[in-house]
Amino acid sequence: MSNRSGFSGRLGFVAAAAGSAVGLGNIWKFPYETGENGGAAFLIIYLVCTFLIGFPVMVGEISMGRKTLADPYGAYNKLGGRKWAIVGLFGVICGVMILSFYNVVAGWAFSYFFKLSFGDLLTSTDFGGYFGNYVANISDNFFISFLFMVLTAFIVARGIKKGIEAAAKILMPVLILLLVGLIFYSMTLPNAMEGLKFYLVPDFNKVGFDTIYKAMGHAFFSLSLGMGALITYGSYISKKENIISSAAIVSIADVGVAFLAGLLIFPLVFSQGVEPSAGPGLVFITLPGIFQTMAAGKLIGGAFFLLLSLAALTSTISLLEVPVSYVVDEYKWNRTKAVTILAAGIFLIGLPSMFSQGASELFTNFIHYDGVSKDFLSLIEDVFLNVGLPLGGCLMSIFIAARWKTSNMAAEIEQGNAGYIGSFVQKFIDIVITYIAPVLLGSIFLLTVMQKFFGISFF
Ligand code: PHE
Repeated sequence: MSNRSGFSGRLGFVAAAAGSAVGLGNIWKFPYETGENGGAAFLIIYLVCTFLIGFPVMVGEISMGRKTLADPYGAYNKLGGRKWAIVGLFGVICGVMILSFYNVVAGWAFSYFFKLSFGDLLTSTDFGGYFGNYVANISDNFFISFLFMVLTAFIVARGIKKGIEAAAKILMPVLILLLVGLIFYSMTLPNAMEGLKFYLVPDFNKVGFDTIYKAMGHAFFSLSLGMGALITYGSYISKKENIISSAAIVSIADVGVAFLAGLLIFPLVFSQGVEPSAGPGLVFITLPGIFQTMAAGKLIGGAFFLLLSLAALTSTISLLEVPVSYVVDEYKWNRTKAVTILAAGIFLIGLPSMFSQGASELFTNFIHYDGVSKDFLSLIEDVFLNVGLPLGGCLMSIFIAARWKTSNMAAEIEQGNAGYIGSFVQKFIDIVITYIAPVLLGSIFLLTVMQKFFGISFF
């Protein structure tokens, strides 16, 4: 395995891993979840969850990858044998299924970029209707999400250094520049301060158990944990790298971008006196209405959706790399073949999700649970993301604590970080992985399953 090609160094790894973490979760989901769950209080809980649970689990994933130099299946197999490898395989499957619909949503963002910058979106009088028509339009959706998958595949096919790392090193700075530029602009809008107040002054009256559990699930998804994306990326770093500080930087980058996305969106939303709790439509329905009222709406709106698309792209890249590394490592496929077949296959698996937004009645009202009729996309999201990721993270923590042992993990981390063993950070990480993460992630898993699929709600 000594010829396994990897990232050129720390910057490359951090850029790629931060690119994976920063995605639709930060710019699309985080603002609307914050809007629905009481603003600043949600933000604070999300920050706490990121550092208390997310960061240690991320360290665990990266260590497993670097120790074994393998894909998630191979990593569990080498450290724990065939039975445990099922957990790794489950992660690979989650990656495939999450990418199948994530790519569809990324396609919406990408086409909104074109429609806003060059098309007629801003002449609309009914943005809810516009969005509804758009997502139900098969031909546009098909074309644009196909394009997005091709872009992703093209980058992944070029390999770790020349593809994934190179793309992240360009896309991440562009993303930060766009984000900061847009924030400066949104701060100048009337009522911007109201938005900031909602976002930054916590109202803990609105916090229930529910908020905590949502924030924890979100932190986990947002850091790309639970399915082995970071086992995979971790397998491409050298023994000289400091896993702790790299994971810390990635976690900070992830919450940093989410925080900035809020600084951008809430002033925008309040400048028009609209409600921040619009849900998933916040970005696609509320924001275009706001861009419409601006003199530079085409430019600002276009820049926003470009930002969203770039963030999504560095995440789809990491989602595709997981199954690609699996077939390359386990079945010795060459990379190009692996990328082509998997990207095509995942695109096909994503079609029912694409058709589930109004195009096909069957997939739109696919199944009834959680008290409502759910479309196919939501079903896949519930099973593989909301349930699958916490389960994967819980099992990984149990695996490290009970099978691989935290002392072996610490020995791996010690390489590149002399003095780690015996440090406060080691104690903290060991305690979280052994006790806190299994319990909390296990509870998220159980609560979600019971609430969604059995209608049993505890709060
Ligand atoms: N973290 C990404 C986001 O916030 C999504 C993702 C999850 C990517 C899991 C890879 C693996 O959008």
